Amino acid sequence: MIRIISDYSMKKLIAFNWKMYPKKAADIEGLLLAFDDANIDTDRYEIAIAPPAVYLPMIADIFYEVKADISLAMQNCAWQSEGALTGEISAEMGKNVGADYAIIGHSERRMYFGETDEMIGKKVSAAIKAGLVAILCVGEPLSVRKKGKAAVKQYIRKQIEEAMKGLSASKAFSSKRIIIAYEPVWAIGTGNAATPEDAIEVIAFIRSILNTSYSIPTARILYGGSVNAKNVPLFVKHDGIDGALIGGASIDKKELKSILKTLHS
Ligand code: 13P
Repeated sequence: MIRIISDYSMKKLIAFNWKMYPKKAADIEGLLLAFDDANIDTDRYEIAIAPPAVYLPMIADIFYEVKADISLAMQNCAWQSEGALTGEISAEMGKNVGADYAIIGHSERRMYFGETDEMIGKKVSAAIKAGLVAILCVGEPLSVRKKGKAAVKQYIRKQIEEAMKGLSASKAFSSKRIIIAYEPVWAIGTGNAATPEDAIEVIAFIRSILNTSYSIPTARILYGGSVNAKNVPLFVKHDGIDGALIGGASIDKKELKSILKTLHS
């Protein structure tokens, strides 16, 4: 299996969350072709793809064959390394078939699969224990947004505190194994991205929590929610944002190609 990114780096991380797409394995090649001649500035950007778990081994093999400088992510993981948990996949299993990262606590997992802050906390610990970098997703729903900035910050602080409960700060810091993705729920899949200014403000707040409560001053903090080829530079080229988590636009071949073009060297 390919293992290119073995340690933390401060490159901006551009992670593509393919969610539950594509339907057929045969369509993956078409998507991967977009990376072929993208000429990405790999000194500045690290690329990761989070496909449905069934495709991880296949994509890892393709990357190995072509020596691709791309990391792989799970979209979720179980909180145990193995056990009687029908339908679940552990972080160890993901790691063993080529994943470097695990997205945890995505709002779709919270919303449709009943994931609680407690479960998410256990998953973050499990991912880190397995040697993966946890990409913890946080973000407020519209109802909270409407209450104003103080409510947003309070909501996000709670999500972070709950998710970090089982994790000693020294562990997260020394292994540099945690990334936060700020994904406001109202921005996901709606075409209504946060403004870069809003994203930067919340990200700065998250940075201050990580610094003061957990002594993690340098964790990467990403923005996600309706990022596309047009707005991606506004987010990823800004000093206050350490990358992007991109959903819908990353499973549209044309859009993906256009996004990658903006990351060229
Ligand atoms: P969209 O880019 O489709 O809004 O999705 C964002 C997301 O959920 C990434 O995890």
